[in-house]
Amino acid sequence: MAIKRIGIITSGGDCGGLNAVIKSVAREAYAHGIESVVIPNGYAGLYNLIDLKEVVVLNAERVSRIEASLAGSEAGHSRVKISKISDPQKYDRIKNGLKKFGIDALIISGGDDTGSVVVDLTSKGIPCIHVPKTMDLDLQPYSVGGDSAINRISVFTRDLKTTGMSHNRILVIEVFGRYVGHTALRGGIGAEADCILLPEIPVDFDVIYQHMKTTYFARVDRSDVKAGTYIIVVAEGLKTASGDLLYDESAGADAFGHKKLAGAGKYVRQQLEKRLKADPDVKEFMKRTGMYAPGVYEIPEIREVTLGHLVRSGQSSSFDVNFGQKTGAAAVLLLLSGKTGNSVVSVEGNKIFYMPTAEAIKRREVDIDEITLFESLGTCFGRKPQKFEYQFIEAKTPIQRHL
Ligand code: F6P
Repeated sequence: MAIKRIGIITSGGDCGGLNAVIKSVAREAYAHGIESVVIPNGYAGLYNLIDLKEVVVLNAERVSRIEASLAGSEAGHSRVKISKISDPQKYDRIKNGLKKFGIDALIISGGDDTGSVVVDLTSKGIPCIHVPKTMDLDLQPYSVGGDSAINRISVFTRDLKTTGMSHNRILVIEVFGRYVGHTALRGGIGAEADCILLPEIPVDFDVIYQHMKTTYFARVDRSDVKAGTYIIVVAEGLKTASGDLLYDESAGADAFGHKKLAGAGKYVRQQLEKRLKADPDVKEFMKRTGMYAPGVYEIPEIREVTLGHLVRSGQSSSFDVNFGQKTGAAAVLLLLSGKTGNSVVSVEGNKIFYMPTAEAIKRREVDIDEITLFESLGTCFGRKPQKFEYQFIEAKTPIQRHL
């Protein structure tokens, strides 16, 4: 079937680089004589397409009004999974909506839940290509939005050091990343955080406390103006040593059905405060550094900061704009060659790498082996540091960048 019109959908949480994807899909499609249109509001919009009066056509003028370097998505988002909609006629309704607007195929950018719908729609005979997108970086390939979020986490974390230093506070910074620790790890390392806590590593609070005490005390003691801070970056999906999520039940669930994660930072703060209060060395430290005020200020303060949606807002990183442009264009080329049901992995030179979407959405966790390297450099990961066991391997081309 000749494709004349492509519908573009962005779904799940918004993030950096998506507008670059949208623009490059539209421009690549246009170069092949194909029109592209926005299907607004993610899969909710796809379900309701039939009721729309008109769709926005991404012609040259409309595309030029989209700013690729701005995060968020001109196509809008929702956390709706088609399979969960309680309407037995939903797939016919979607097909009728596509027919109404002459849309022959879809390019869909999103994470694991979004990708599972790509698999679902493909099996129902709707041609789809998936462009990996999630700031969580929990898919097999790199996903647009990850680099932008990491950079923002690093910038905010570094910025927070100035207020931390001024008040001699210990800061616990909780960051988005869902059930994996990629953003906390990379963002934390980018800001030279003292301690980074990930869902992949069971936390021993006594180990963190000892690292904090040694590092923070020495920092303040050494400073000529007696100033110091200690920075902990915590992944929102942190688990207890027994594997339970440290989240606040009252936060509820989103439309995909996932628990809204919140509370990991607060839990870490409480655990460390408890240890500060019980430690007899703390009073002596407060006195010798001139901080002690009886009954008012007897232990250093710990504050938690939740960066929340700030980490996926604002500006996209240049890497994500590059990646978004390449993968958006590649998605059109994959669609035109009939490779429906696939995800774009990357574009390296003139090679377009792709894989089945069902494979691409399998969860990828932080590689714990790499953590030992950072441990050998002094960062605490909430456990006793382990030795970096390495091997040498001669690299073959192409080398795919994979955060
Ligand atoms: O999946 C992306 C993400 O930003 C997660 O890191 C975070 O837990 C979640 O989305 C927040 O989603 P929402 O914007 O729906 O609150």
